[in-house]
Amino acid sequence: MKPGPPTLPTAVVSPVCGRDVTIVTKVADIPMVPGVRSGPVGRILRVGRILCVANQKGGVGKTTTASNLAAALAHGGMRTLLVDLDPQCNATTGFGVAPAAMHPLVLETPLADSIVATSLPNLFVLPGSRSVRDVERIAARSRAGSAMLEQHLGLGLAAWDYCLIDCPPSIGDLTRTALAGSTEVLMPIQCEYFALEGLTQMIEVIRDVMQERPGRLSFSGIVLTMHDAALELTAEVEAEVRDFFGEIVFQTVIPRDVAVSEAPSHAQSVLDYAPRSRGARAYTELCMEVRDCE
Ligand SMILES: Nc1ncnc2c1ncn2[C@@H]1O[C@H](COP(=O)(O)OP(=O)(O)O)[C@@H](O)[C@H]1O
Ligand SMILES: [Mg+2]
Repeated sequence: MKPGPPTLPTAVVSPVCGRDVTIVTKVADIPMVPGVRSGPVGRILRVGRILCVANQKGGVGKTTTASNLAAALAHGGMRTLLVDLDPQCNATTGFGVAPAAMHPLVLETPLADSIVATSLPNLFVLPGSRSVRDVERIAARSRAGSAMLEQHLGLGLAAWDYCLIDCPPSIGDLTRTALAGSTEVLMPIQCEYFALEGLTQMIEVIRDVMQERPGRLSFSGIVLTMHDAALELTAEVEAEVRDFFGEIVFQTVIPRDVAVSEAPSHAQSVLDYAPRSRGARAYTELCMEVRDCE
């Protein structure tokens, strides 16, 4: 039996792609990390976009989408930071970067000290850590309502043109913290049965964070992943998702493409590993759609 659609709170779909403007009152407020936009005191500066790539399910293409979209943005000249919040560290190792012994978020040092350049110009990684204790520490700080994490994730990351946060497959404290520090949510949905099942909880969490911080977080969109045009199932799932979520679903779909799954083992994005592949084209198109919301 097909799952029924989750109840989608209207707060989630509004505003679509809406983003905030931060009024920076002191130059000292501007974090000094690469990609910083400086300006005169009191001038209104647009903060970079911080996209939280989240879905409570595993294996739906979060890491793949965060990594390849980040690479596509970097190819387009955007200073991009990929933040790895998943203890599996696939976003980190997928670009040939070693996981950190301690997660940069639990270190007392500025995030900028932990950022690693990849071989792709404009693309930087904030490595994840495999330490379960680090994850617990980050979560504990989040529960305690510490402003530090949000400051790290929000203000600290605002200096980049784009920041993509690869979330773990859960709606636990880490994902909540990532949402709270982000300006947008991007949700990959895999074209499979039960694609919408379980999304209600995820959407509830997104709505909670939106309500806690009015005007800060918006929904940049849903991207359909592992799309196989030859399968009736894919067509059914796509129709169902588009029917239910409407205009927040990106037009671009990410095809199932072996080049996409091979690229991380070569420490590259699919755009660099197989530039002519369907996967590379799709992530380039997705990037254009995301940038259209600027
Ligand atoms: N478009 C795609 N084509 C083929 N394989 C894909 C595609 N997207 C993801 N995969 C593969 O599916 C698996 C799960 O993807 P991943 O991005 O790690 O999901 P998540 O981060 O949501 O757990 C990985 O092995 C990945 O290589
Ligand atoms: Mg992942």
